Amino acid sequence: MSPRARPVGPFPDGVDPEAYDRLRRRVLWSLPMGLYLLGTVAGDRRNLMTCNWVTQLATEPKLIGVSVEVGVHSYELLVEGGRFAVALLDREDRALVRKFVKPASDDREARTLNGIPYRDAPVSGAPVPSAAVAFLDCRVEREVPLGSHSLFLGEVLDAGGPEGEGELPVLRMEDTRMSYGG
Ligand SMILES: Cc1cc2nc3c(=O)[nH]c(=O)nc-3n(C[C@H](O)[C@H](O)[C@H](O)COP(=O)(O)O)c2cc1C
Repeated sequence: MSPRARPVGPFPDGVDPEAYDRLRRRVLWSLPMGLYLLGTVAGDRRNLMTCNWVTQLATEPKLIGVSVEVGVHSYELLVEGGRFAVALLDREDRALVRKFVKPASDDREARTLNGIPYRDAPVSGAPVPSAAVAFLDCRVEREVPLGSHSLFLGEVLDAGGPEGEGELPVLRMEDTRMSYGG
């Protein structure tokens, strides 16, 4: 993401806006986060997008939220298609997320996006990379406009992952040198 031309307020009294902006960004970047691929579909258009602003928001119903920049390709597909899938990736798969920071090119015959094999999530039909460790398949329940981004609340309609107990070794922001937001 390109740095903003001017720091965004509000600012506490008496601070230097530039220095405060740097500190605030460092703190925001330090929030522990996962790193995911968001699959979207509308008609015959599909996309995968690298995203870290994903979290569970309620237990009954099972709701998750993804925050997506207004106007990007995935945003348009979310509004139009009303469904999405979140793919959790293996901790070693950091190369995958580098491939999806621009609209992806879909080869439907080969079932690849930017050359990465995918399958359709069971309910939404949104793309899930074949290499995903686990996924959540969702229907958009509501869009909450937030300014630069919109929070899409999704009800989890299906989930998939390996059998067994224990934490999955999934990719986190700290496994990469990437950052977003701040
Ligand atoms: C590490 C990382 C995390 C990102 N997280 C998000 C995110 O949570 N939400 C978002 O809207 N864009 C996020 N982005 C930016 C999108 O991946 C990028 O803007 C993408 O080009 C927009 O997707 P599009 O393919 O739908 O145009 C992130 C980028 C990086 C590098």
